[in-house]
Amino acid sequence: MNIFHEILVNQLAVEGRFISDEGELKKFVIIDAAFNMDRTLIGLLLTKKELKQKFFTQIAGHWVFDINLFVRYMENKNFLKDSYTRYRNKIGLTINGKFAKQSNEVALVWPFKDCILEGGQTEEDQKRPEIFFNEILAQEEIDQLTEPKVLVNWERYTTDGTQKVTDIKRGKNGIIKENLIIKGNNLLGLHSLLPQFENQVKLIYIDPPYNTGNDAFKYNDSFNHSTWLTFMKNRLEVARRLLRNDGVIFVQISDYEIGYLNVLLDEVFGRENFVNKISIKTKSPSGFKTVNLGVFETAEYILFYGKNKTRFKYNPQFVEKKYDTNYSLQIDNMSKDYKEWTYSSIKEYVASENGYTNAKEASKQIGKNNFIEKVGDFALKNSNKVFRFTEIGNDAGKDTIEKKRSSIANKGVVFKAEREGKDDRFILNGKEISFYKKKVKEIDGKIVPTTILTNIWTDIAWEGIAKEGGISLKKGKKPEKLLKRLIDMATKKGDIVLDFFGGSGTTGAVAHKMNRQYILIEQMNYIKDLPEARLKKVIGIKTKKADKLHEKIEFDISGVSKALNWKGGGSFIYTELKQYNQTFINQIEKAETENELIAIWEEMKIHSFLNYNVDIKKHDENIEEFKTLEIKTQKNHLIKLLNKNQLYVNLSSIDDEDFKVSDENKKLTNDFYEIKEEETVTQTKTDL
Ligand SMILES: C[S@@+](CC[C@H](N)C(=O)[O-])C[C@H]1O[C@@H](n2cnc3c(N)ncnc32)[C@H](O)[C@@H]1O
Repeated sequence: MNIFHEILVNQLAVEGRFISDEGELKKFVIIDAAFNMDRTLIGLLLTKKELKQKFFTQIAGHWVFDINLFVRYMENKNFLKDSYTRYRNKIGLTINGKFAKQSNEVALVWPFKDCILEGGQTEEDQKRPEIFFNEILAQEEIDQLTEPKVLVNWERYTTDGTQKVTDIKRGKNGIIKENLIIKGNNLLGLHSLLPQFENQVKLIYIDPPYNTGNDAFKYNDSFNHSTWLTFMKNRLEVARRLLRNDGVIFVQISDYEIGYLNVLLDEVFGRENFVNKISIKTKSPSGFKTVNLGVFETAEYILFYGKNKTRFKYNPQFVEKKYDTNYSLQIDNMSKDYKEWTYSSIKEYVASENGYTNAKEASKQIGKNNFIEKVGDFALKNSNKVFRFTEIGNDAGKDTIEKKRSSIANKGVVFKAEREGKDDRFILNGKEISFYKKKVKEIDGKIVPTTILTNIWTDIAWEGIAKEGGISLKKGKKPEKLLKRLIDMATKKGDIVLDFFGGSGTTGAVAHKMNRQYILIEQMNYIKDLPEARLKKVIGIKTKKADKLHEKIEFDISGVSKALNWKGGGSFIYTELKQYNQTFINQIEKAETENELIAIWEEMKIHSFLNYNVDIKKHDENIEEFKTLEIKTQKNHLIKLLNKNQLYVNLSSIDDEDFKVSDENKKLTNDFYEIKEEETVTQTKTDL
């Protein structure tokens, strides 16, 4: 029994009604008492600090009893082995702490939903057994797992190259003002960000393993379905806490999990905070064989939610469009007063400018498409006077409707309707003169005709992205242009952007070029060769001549660099969650022979944290039998022996000699979490 259970059992046993003649707790009587808000029961729970913290929530200075949680706890078969079934049907299907019967929501329910899954991996192609911690029964274990971690191997990169980190810069509001690349499991990474970044992040983009079994990430791309959902739920819940109230999250996913992920996001973020489902064309069928099972799959999706949708302000986006031939007229004398305006066809004008007798002749001579292209070029260059007529709806402002009427009564005369905060409207013969300039905008540094962005994106090329950033990630790399659009939609300069499935670092690279602050988390050992190397290229390096650094910088010119007129510069900090038992897991994963595994086991006996029930002596006595197992099974077995709560070093253990945290790392970790040296010492003493 763990300590919490012991406290609960001992406290409830104080009340005679709650124990049987055999001295066992009467579970059903206690549950009845809970449903009846029994004063004695509530009094007992309130008088023990641990019980109060778990089963009560503080609201406006009052402690409110969480009856659902308490009943769930009592009913859990692992807690008390009482066979009483009266309440069985009431439990299990709870959503956000409410019984399903009482809730109107549609939600996903699956085994191990209320569990935490660590979900770690450092090498490609490796699988290892997962453990689920039950949120109710293993509170202590979960607290340890999700406690902020010690950070080590700090490096800062600038145009002068890699430097030692001596301080962590903060903004006026006290928030860390550094770009961060963090190596480690993202669940623990997110929890380590919470103390500093809760309610601070403006945009989260994630591109998790799609769970199709096809990705390079053999391990967590082939979770079984419910395990994948637990993995995502655990991470999304912390991610939500990191977002600002006006912050947003974009989650990219394929056909395979989209339906489930949509419901999960509804549950975590609230259905009312759903903004869009964006469909993106990621490939075209040309050159592919026909598929027998259904139509060719080309779409991926981005699910877009706000933390609080009503607080989010969208920056409207536009996409390039071909010339719209409806814009076929021009005002001949723009510089005159509008009342004197006359108009004519631009096709005829362009034809005569090019020496043809009329448009029909021009089209015949140079081909229809070429001629339209010329007309389009003219329209673009003269968009302030090129126009089309559009209908005026009955919902237009009062002045517009009045002028519309007058213009119908006075054919051939242009009227002007004024509008507050908007351009004036010009009206002729009951129709609006809509200028082409409203459609012309600058996109990626080019002046082009545009149309408003919809939720179907077909204009972002996937071909050629392998070269972006000068690094390659076999599967899963996303185009810089995609990230630029998302960041444009929801942020401004200086806002914090987070991607905790960092991959090749596309989000970081684009955020950097757009002067946003960013945080990337990635657990794979390739973090150094991919995102870190890529971000170094983005920042660039001063050129060297005769071994001296010159001011001229060489920087990444791929991806969106040109569109953003990127010139290099800035910095980032790289750091890692300090591993402990995880280092043994890494060694086990890498090992190729039985002898290597046995040598690791010898080390583990002395230096690792083994599960409490591992009997070293018995294990050694049976080592010959261990040797008969397949190497894969041997590996899984050794990993199973390790205590997964000790994969990384907890902040509260920073001063523990066993973990050998250097003074430099202690200082920087404490700076990161804003802990004064004295506080750590006091805390450690009390802990002891
Ligand atoms: C599909 S890739 C992301 C690709 C990225 N959007 C890009 O453009 O390069 C997903 C990444 O998430 C990482 N990942 C998966 N599970 C993780 C975990 N539990 N902690 C940290 N990183 C994880 C994988 O190693 C992989 O690099």
